[in-house]
Amino acid sequence: MKVTIHKLFDYLLETTAQDPPECFIGFSLARSPRLKDFLPDLDPEMSLDWNGKSFLGLPALRQRVLDQAGLSLPLDSVLITAGAAEANYLLFRQLLTDGDEIITEAPGWPQAGVMARAIGARMVQVAREEAPGWWLDPDAVARAVTPKTRMIFLTNPNNPTGRLIPEGDLRALADLAEKHGIWLVVDEVYAGLEWVRARPPSIAGMTPFGITTGSVSKALGLQGLRTGWMICQSPEVIRDAMILRENGSEIMNVLGEHIAEVALRPERLAAALLRARDEGRATLDRLAG
Ligand SMILES: Cc1ncc(COP(=O)(O)O)c(C=O)c1O
Repeated sequence: MKVTIHKLFDYLLETTAQDPPECFIGFSLARSPRLKDFLPDLDPEMSLDWNGKSFLGLPALRQRVLDQAGLSLPLDSVLITAGAAEANYLLFRQLLTDGDEIITEAPGWPQAGVMARAIGARMVQVAREEAPGWWLDPDAVARAVTPKTRMIFLTNPNNPTGRLIPEGDLRALADLAEKHGIWLVVDEVYAGLEWVRARPPSIAGMTPFGITTGSVSKALGLQGLRTGWMICQSPEVIRDAMILRENGSEIMNVLGEHIAEVALRPERLAAALLRARDEGRATLDRLAG
């Protein structure tokens, strides 16, 4: 497959190749914790041997992933991945082929476009207009569906606008996916950083065609752990992604999984999200001032 670079990555390459800039205003991570914040909860005797562990990821972490998403699904509906990026990658590779169509949003996360082009799938973009506050109209998504559509890929909260897809619109999109047998992948990597409203429900709980991707990178500032997930009710999707991953990065990063499990414990998570939202609001005020 022929890969092309997208603008955002081009910009990141350029900035990281130079002396550190005074600040990045394009980044949206919460402040990153230090390793020492986790040491009291980690077992120094923990083995770094991976053998004997589940290819789906640490069961305790998979349970935390379901809990933070408010989902009561079986543990095996979660695959732990190297970030939401790997989860998305595995899904595009697995579910799309040459000639398929993928519907996505504009503006949106550029990974979808790069992967679609590399696979030979046609990307159909539905505009989020600025005037209605970057709202994504589910009817516009419905109008973009053709017999070739295999996947709808959206971000919720949206990167880059922060706009949420509310529950009613998610329901309409879930119905659309079911009606046409289309995978509805919602990248929820920014979940927890909602400034204005409550977190919308995770798509994996709303329809068997829904696939949630996420990670500890954004709201928890733990991007360097490379620990994320996909959640889907279909055992075939999870199994195929696991097989595909075994041929790429093979298995998970054990240390990342353990730290992520600690980070997602309810009291820690609630405190970290409160802090991240407060700091995010303060940054917004500074930018607006
Ligand atoms: C919408 C979206 N999805 C996925 C990613 C990748 O996240 P992760 O660090 O979990 O791979 C990013 C990172 O910027 C993102 O903005």
